[in-house]
Amino acid sequence: MIPDNVTPESLRLRPALPADCRQIWRWATAPDVRQRSVQRKPIPYDVHIKWFNEKMNAEGTRLYVLVLDEVPVANIRFDRVSDGIAEVSLTVSDQHRGCGFGRFMLSKAMSSIYDELHVSRLLARIHDTNVASVRLFTRAGFVKSGEETIAGRVWGRYLRHAPATDAVEEGS
Ligand SMILES: CC(C)(COP(=O)(O)OP(=O)(O)OC[C@H]1O[C@@H](n2cnc3c(N)ncnc32)[C@H](O)[C@@H]1OP(=O)(O)O)[C@@H](O)C(=O)NCCC(=O)NCCS
Repeated sequence: MIPDNVTPESLRLRPALPADCRQIWRWATAPDVRQRSVQRKPIPYDVHIKWFNEKMNAEGTRLYVLVLDEVPVANIRFDRVSDGIAEVSLTVSDQHRGCGFGRFMLSKAMSSIYDELHVSRLLARIHDTNVASVRLFTRAGFVKSGEETIAGRVWGRYLRHAPATDAVEEGS
């Protein structure tokens, strides 16, 4: 699904940097992204700067940026929300959607995030109308575990358990 001209070397997931602050705000404030978020209000840039700095320094948060030939095209964030659970949130820039970048980024980040944040489950809250997101998460192994109503809108709660690790017997 990833376009043929995109080589594995040209696509890289890296930790967010202070210089990503404005780009992440642009993605977050796109009207369609706000519409699909639990919190729909516009985000003033000064409020975003404070939020971004807090997230960059939070022990229970990891923020990554996907770069294509070093140009940021998407971001993903994990916030530990309770003992054992981290909530995931991601955005792909609108020009790069539907090319497999969301799937690539989620899969890449999930390979280390359980250990990184010491959690056993990941949570995604998704509105039923967000077809791409429902497909992305269910194909990645998230299972709908219930619903919750926030500000009058119903959100599906999708959970994914950490993959079982093969226990290696001592001496084997
Ligand atoms: C949701 C989002 C992250 C998906 O990223 P993406 O890179 O476009 O998705 P991918 O190309 O990796 O495709 C993932 C799945 O969604 C499907 N999909 C992608 N765009 C779609 C669309 N417009 N309509 C329906 N399905 C779509 C793909 O076919 C694929 O499913 P499949 O594996 O069954 O074929 C992206 O659309 C986005 O940033 N949306 C705005 C922000 C948002 O909604 N974030 C999630 C909040 S929970």
